[in-house]
Amino acid sequence: MSDTYQQAADIIRSAKRCVAFTGAGISVESGIPPFRGENGLWNKYDPETFDIRYFYTHTKASWEVIREIFYDLFGKVVPNFAHYALAQLESMGLLGSVITQNVDNLHYDAGSRTVHEFHGSLKKLVCLGCRAKYTISEIDLTCLPPECGKCGKVLKPDVIFFGEAIPEPARTHSFNETRIADCFILIGTTGAVAPANMIPPAARANGAKIIEINPVVSEYTHSVTDVFLKEKATTAMERLMDEIKGK
Ligand code: APR
Repeated sequence: MSDTYQQAADIIRSAKRCVAFTGAGISVESGIPPFRGENGLWNKYDPETFDIRYFYTHTKASWEVIREIFYDLFGKVVPNFAHYALAQLESMGLLGSVITQNVDNLHYDAGSRTVHEFHGSLKKLVCLGCRAKYTISEIDLTCLPPECGKCGKVLKPDVIFFGEAIPEPARTHSFNETRIADCFILIGTTGAVAPANMIPPAARANGAKIIEINPVVSEYTHSVTDVFLKEKATTAMERLMDEIKGK
């Protein structure tokens, strides 16, 4: 096995606390397109649709795109090996938590228990009037925008739109991890979006070793990454799990 995988496995096995930090790339092999790069959603859709001001002023139009980009796929895609591998590392006591920028719920679907959803989750919706919370299984999206059963106001996916604050407790828990973890595994993220992209540099500044899995160089590769596994998430995690298990 190549020495980079041996190096990564040694770091993970000897870490006191290892944390995974994931982006859209970990879900690409589950069939969810990334936002940037080849087949990126932002090549096809205007990110403006995902600005909170646009949602408030063009609610129906925004909801139509949200349903097409996310909810038409949501619940129809399943975790891939990389999601399951992180859940297995957690059950082996080798991973303390997952911080994810993704809103697809696939880490929970794969069995991960400690997941900080830094950008929220499509699984939940919130009423803009009375703040009542719903799960997507309770809501019919054929008629848009969906309305609150209690006060009649519009429901919004409980995900962070551009221009919105990062939800608590995910924000506090995530930055706390950068102070206590001595190993971060970055999987499938460009590092293009703040404040999420402050997490890996903060972890490294506190002495964490950074392992990165991405088939393409990211903003992190030449700035914070210590061990770069230049591969797709499932391939890299298969090789890494074999190395960790000493196969
Ligand atoms: N395995 C691993 N990584 C992959 C794979 C794969 N099979 N396919 C693509 N990638 C990598 C790409 O090289 C890229 O670096 O995944 C990354 C996807 O980048 P983005 O689409 O920018 O996703 P992300 O970094 O999570 O975006 C952050 O931007 O639009 C906002 O809120 C949105 O959470 C998102 C944030």
